[in-house]
Amino acid sequence: MARPTQPGLLRVLHGTTALAVLGCWLSGLVVYSTYDGRWGRLPFTVPGNWIDIHGSLGVVLLPLAVLLAAYALTKGRRRLRRPTNAIPLLALGLAIGSGKLMQEDWPRTGQLHHVVYSLHLLAWLLIAAAVATHLWGVLRLGGWPLAQSMLSTKFSRNLAAGPPPGHPSGAVPNHRETL
Ligand code: HEM
Ligand code: HEM
Repeated sequence: MARPTQPGLLRVLHGTTALAVLGCWLSGLVVYSTYDGRWGRLPFTVPGNWIDIHGSLGVVLLPLAVLLAAYALTKGRRRLRRPTNAIPLLALGLAIGSGKLMQEDWPRTGQLHHVVYSLHLLAWLLIAAAVATHLWGVLRLGGWPLAQSMLSTKFSRNLAAGPPPGHPSGAVPNHRETL
């Protein structure tokens, strides 16, 4: 079977969004453990102003997620019909939407009863389930080669187009530049 490849733009948007989501998820876990802890806490405390760190990561996440969603709804439309690809995007929408309505002093002042706060926590759990389902879907569909194709950081020119005009390697067959 031919090795699957992914468009570079999708890999960049998908990868940066996934990293930002991971950052939000983990920093959210620390915020939850420090100020909430109704269903358990981490066995250690992490020094630092994690509400601010989490808020900043959330600010970074928003534009990345908007661009990924724009890509998925246009060029990636066909793949978005697969529920295991669409669900992470929906969960992300809920997390960001509720996150924008959060107040940073709610956890500090013990205001854990707000509906928006509960929605934000729900989105946090949904993201974990959605990404796990997404990975299961990817591995079921194309195994490790498909997963790897999205994680690849190789950005090459279109080799079929040949070397650019005037490039020295164009004159020598199998020649590799050692610059
Ligand atoms: C994957 C999970 C999560 C994502 C993607 C996420 C995303 C976001 C986003 C986008 C914001 C808005 C930031 C802004 O524009 O100011 C935000 C705010 C906030 N989130 Fe989360 N969040 C997640 C999990 C959590 C968890 C588990 C908690 C724990 C209680 C939490 C607590 C907060 C708080 C307190 C704010 C307000 C911070 C501020 O305004 O500076 N988040 N979140
Ligand atoms: C927060 C984490 C993630 C989010 C929000 C997310 C979101 C998405 C979305 C929206 C698509 C569809 C793109 C399109 O319509 O063109 C997609 C596809 C894909 N994702 Fe993710 N993803 C995440 C994590 C991951 C991870 C960790 C991997 C691991 C390799 C992965 C591998 C893939 C692959 C291989 C496809 C293409 C699947 C296909 O051809 O049907 N994703 N992802």
